[in-house]
Amino acid sequence: MYTLHNHCRACGYGENTAPDGCKSEKAHEKLIPVLDLGIQPLANDFKSDREEREGFAPLKMMFCPNCTLAQLSVVVKPEILYSNYSYITSMSRTMLRHFGQLVAALGIKNGDRVLEIGSNDGGFLSILKDEIGCQVAGVDPAINLARIATVKGIPTVGAMFSFDSARNAISFHLGGLLPDIIIARHVCCHIDNLRGFINDIDRICGDNTIVAIEVPYVKHLMDKLYFDTIYHEHLSYMSTYAMEMLVSKTSLRIKDVLHFDVHGGVVVYVLSKQPSSWVSDEKRITVEDWNDFSFRCHDAMGNLVQWQRTNDSKSIVGYGASAKSTVWMNACGFRRKHIKFICDNTPQKQWKCSPGTDIPIVDEGALLRELPDYAVLFAWNYADEIIAKNQAYRDKGGKFVVPLPELRVC
Ligand code: TMP
Repeated sequence: MYTLHNHCRACGYGENTAPDGCKSEKAHEKLIPVLDLGIQPLANDFKSDREEREGFAPLKMMFCPNCTLAQLSVVVKPEILYSNYSYITSMSRTMLRHFGQLVAALGIKNGDRVLEIGSNDGGFLSILKDEIGCQVAGVDPAINLARIATVKGIPTVGAMFSFDSARNAISFHLGGLLPDIIIARHVCCHIDNLRGFINDIDRICGDNTIVAIEVPYVKHLMDKLYFDTIYHEHLSYMSTYAMEMLVSKTSLRIKDVLHFDVHGGVVVYVLSKQPSSWVSDEKRITVEDWNDFSFRCHDAMGNLVQWQRTNDSKSIVGYGASAKSTVWMNACGFRRKHIKFICDNTPQKQWKCSPGTDIPIVDEGALLRELPDYAVLFAWNYADEIIAKNQAYRDKGGKFVVPLPELRVC
């Protein structure tokens, strides 16, 4: 189900490390363990009672002291994670606003040829095609989602991104011309062979192609304690320095780094083959920073467990069966007796169990029907939107609990 990962996928540190006991000069080159979240199920393994679960794997973070890339200690087989993927990019108001900001910041315009890597169900490309007038093509390994996208008129190659799958998308759907824009939103962190990935992108770029790579920013993760975004699908946690090291062996250069507040804070690395005058202002992340982060995470988990124990006589549910919720449930050991159910508006998740637990996922209407005392907001990235639309629940005495960055009841 998984293999061990022991060298840095951005800079190669540890690649030539000899087995323990062998006196190689590189024997000391080892990634450093910095956070252990135990053995966890796959965060999006939402299954009904009779469906087979995919299994459990260690969830442990390693730090590269050379380029600062943080990365998991294992790689779960991509076929297990992505062949029938249940994560559908949300078309919530929050995401639509983000897409609008991204289009403006990248200067995407009518007639541009756009290739999206990891195009999911084609949601973002639909906007580019229908509202901006772009010529679009997607590549996505989740066959179920690629099919949905194709049916709604977004040409999508159902395959892992590679030079070959991108070339197919370009030949069949972009008239054989290199893309003006290549977008990869939240894809980089899923890629094991990161250097191969960036090399393949380099090969499909023309001189003026703009590449936009959106990733959760590791500094936000650390500052705001978003440890629940650490799960098996996210193999790497990118810093700007690691990105610089990664692209340094290609003909691409960082042209700009854009910050957006969606998902708790993301960065978009804008790359191109043109000479760049951009200089980084990022303070280098250290192993001490990670050790401090690890202490604070364990405190946050302890606080939620403690809060649940204190309120054990009250009815408590979850809101948002995000992958983040899976990390919380399993790190805190929550079961149905602690969290009665989780509300979620994704039909594919409803009437399934929260992975690793017996907690059922139900529709959002359950909040008003059941009127629990507390709803723990595991989709904290949509806190404003979800709290606003559930004012009726609060009017009837219900309260939301936001677990991060500090537990608050509102
Ligand atoms: P995500 O942060 O991984 O996108 O997960 C958020 C989850 O929250 C996703 O399963 C959809 C769910 N959700 C709701 O149930 N209601 C909402 O209003 C929003 C915005 C999200």
